[in-house]
Amino acid sequence: MDFSFSDEQLMLQDVARRIAKEKIATSAEHFDATGEYPLENIQLLGENGLMAIEVPEQYGGSGMDPISSVLAIIEVSAADAAHATIMSVNNSLFCNAVLAYGSEAQKQTYVRAIAEGSEIGAFALTESQSGSDATAMRCRAVKQDDGSYVINGQKSWITSGPVARYVVLFAMTDPTKGSRGITAFMIDANRPGYGRGKTEPKLGVRASATCEIEFQDYVARAEDVIGKEGEGFKIAMSLLDSGRIGIASQAVGIARAAYEASVAYVKERKSFGAPIGTFQMIQAKVADMKCKLDAAMLLTLRAAWLKSQGRRFSTEAAVAKLTASEAAMWIAHQAVQIHGGMGYSKEMPLERYFRDAKITEIYEGTSEIQRMVIARNETGLR
Ligand code: CAA
Repeated sequence: MDFSFSDEQLMLQDVARRIAKEKIATSAEHFDATGEYPLENIQLLGENGLMAIEVPEQYGGSGMDPISSVLAIIEVSAADAAHATIMSVNNSLFCNAVLAYGSEAQKQTYVRAIAEGSEIGAFALTESQSGSDATAMRCRAVKQDDGSYVINGQKSWITSGPVARYVVLFAMTDPTKGSRGITAFMIDANRPGYGRGKTEPKLGVRASATCEIEFQDYVARAEDVIGKEGEGFKIAMSLLDSGRIGIASQAVGIARAAYEASVAYVKERKSFGAPIGTFQMIQAKVADMKCKLDAAMLLTLRAAWLKSQGRRFSTEAAVAKLTASEAAMWIAHQAVQIHGGMGYSKEMPLERYFRDAKITEIYEGTSEIQRMVIARNETGLR
């Protein structure tokens, strides 16, 4: 077993860390307060290969491995989790969809534009009445005699929806077949029949623009199908396995930022004539934070390593996402407590970490869904 990173992995981590420190950390407060989409920062990440990390160089990407993605997302998330949301969805859900299931033409057209940072990708599975129960979707794609599909319906909570040019959509092509009646499509937001709702005001990751999208007689051509008709649900689930590593990485980044701020603060802040870090109750918090942070990091790397070996990693991705998101929430909570009034103040980023951490327990499968996936896979029972 080797716990060291390769030179290439460290180099990409370094690029991400530099942009995170110089551009993202310095503007995070502004984007959190305004909810504006951080377009220039995202373009900068794209120009540096961080929006298509695992995309092979032949399609304009960085050609790096899943462990590199984890390292890069952690750096960005430690500066600002909203940037990491945009980055993770674009990398893990959009790019992986086309790479793993798309045709050569789809790879050339859609992945290249995303890899070059000129366009943003989104992933549309959720609907207002179907979040955890993804097969209950109502968005319909009806096949026409010429092989095209007419799509009608709405999708909710679409990360990057307000700005995305290309969207990987899941729609029901045969409602009588349940999960086997779902098909994946590549959607171009510039084509007729595509509409966007208002940007959602959110508790955290406020700069990662989220909205509802709507299809009104949108025509998808036969060549817009991703994979095969009826394979959409399995495609969505396997992409979410990768997406969950991305969200676990995001959670580790938030947890690390909250932990490092706390370690610095307990050495500086004096109370009763001594640094608060000398008090046993604070020491216990620091120790427990460190254990949860390390466990989250190692489990996330394990899932990424399995992915890089081409092995199944559904359970390990769920274990990583569950552990890391709950660690981020707990660590951010303790960090606010350690900082006392300053933790509650907008003068410090602790309250932002606390708000941002919460979403990692909800999107790309709630903690309850992760527990269900893990238990089903471990026991074989349903
Ligand atoms: N990989 C490949 N195939 C998979 C799979 C996986 N990880 N998981 C399930 N499948 C297959 C099953 O083998 C099964 O195949 P067969 O038909 O051949 O038997 C099929 O998919 C159906 O599986 P289930 O019977 O297990 O399906 P289910 O209806 O019981 O649902 C679930 C399972 C785990 C609850 C699933 O619906 C789920 O993960 N729900 C959560 C959805 C989710 O994470 N949404 C996040 C939205 S996206 C988002 O948040 C992005 C963003 O913008 C940030």
